[in-house]
Amino acid sequence: MALGDAQGGTQYAMGEKFAELIHEKTDGQVAIDMFPNGQLGSEQDTVSSASMGMLDLSVLAINNITPFSPTVGVLTLPYVITSPEDAKTLTQGEIGQQLAENTIRDAGVRVLSWAYSGCRVLSNSSKPVATPDDLQGLTIRVPRNEIMIASYQEWGVNPLPMAWSETFTALQQGVVDGQDNPYITINAMKFYEVQDYITDICYVFSLEPLIMSESKFQSLSPDMQEVVLEAGREATAYSYDYLLETEESIKQALVEEHGMQIIEPANSESEWIERASSIWPRFYDSIGGEERLEEALQALGRDLN
Ligand code: MLT
Repeated sequence: MALGDAQGGTQYAMGEKFAELIHEKTDGQVAIDMFPNGQLGSEQDTVSSASMGMLDLSVLAINNITPFSPTVGVLTLPYVITSPEDAKTLTQGEIGQQLAENTIRDAGVRVLSWAYSGCRVLSNSSKPVATPDDLQGLTIRVPRNEIMIASYQEWGVNPLPMAWSETFTALQQGVVDGQDNPYITINAMKFYEVQDYITDICYVFSLEPLIMSESKFQSLSPDMQEVVLEAGREATAYSYDYLLETEESIKQALVEEHGMQIIEPANSESEWIERASSIWPRFYDSIGGEERLEEALQALGRDLN
């Protein structure tokens, strides 16, 4: 199992739970080896490797699957998912099921489980940022993901797309000033060593699927397939509780133990929300039509207007 993040975050907690469950359910006959911290390649590389059957399992951020299966982008449009409950509703409901089928069709990988990592907050090493205009002059790293790039452009800056595996070094060497990821990930990756400020925005909720090579899945017996699917569902439930139980204390530790400063976005985040949400129509084609977004919002009790 490849994991993009270091040990100590939501990816590892969910992946480890899945591995334990598989071990138990097969009476110790199947052991899963875990390779955290991008040891088996960038998150996007692991999708290609799994698709070709060269890697069995990978835990990665959803934004790194979207380039292979664009309809998944409905879950990463800015300000669609704004809470753990929203994330659970969409991933565990009909929409999640449909998107999981699409990733098999488009990318040859099957989503077995979801890690819930929390809102992507914005960190930087230079100054307190409360409004999009405060971003002027900062170089921000983003994943190679069109939706995220477009969001920053609406906030008035040109972000630098870069693989996750290169991000810590780029922050450390000052190639970039900032990045966005959830509190738990910032902590697991020790970004507090190279970042001082966090803006508490929630433009994208970080979902991190455990994917399995579909060719590997199809090579398993029907009984083993059922074991794998069941372990995936149980690991998803575990990950949801893990987020709710750990996020607040990690946020506190980033301030109290690691000296980070948390800044509230100005005007209840309204400028961030208005500007970033204006990109939605540009992605209707890639997510499979405006109606896909309408369905998602409806499932969350909201509507498009
Ligand atoms: C990214 O920023 O590329 C990912 O969200 C990193 C991760 O997998 O945690």
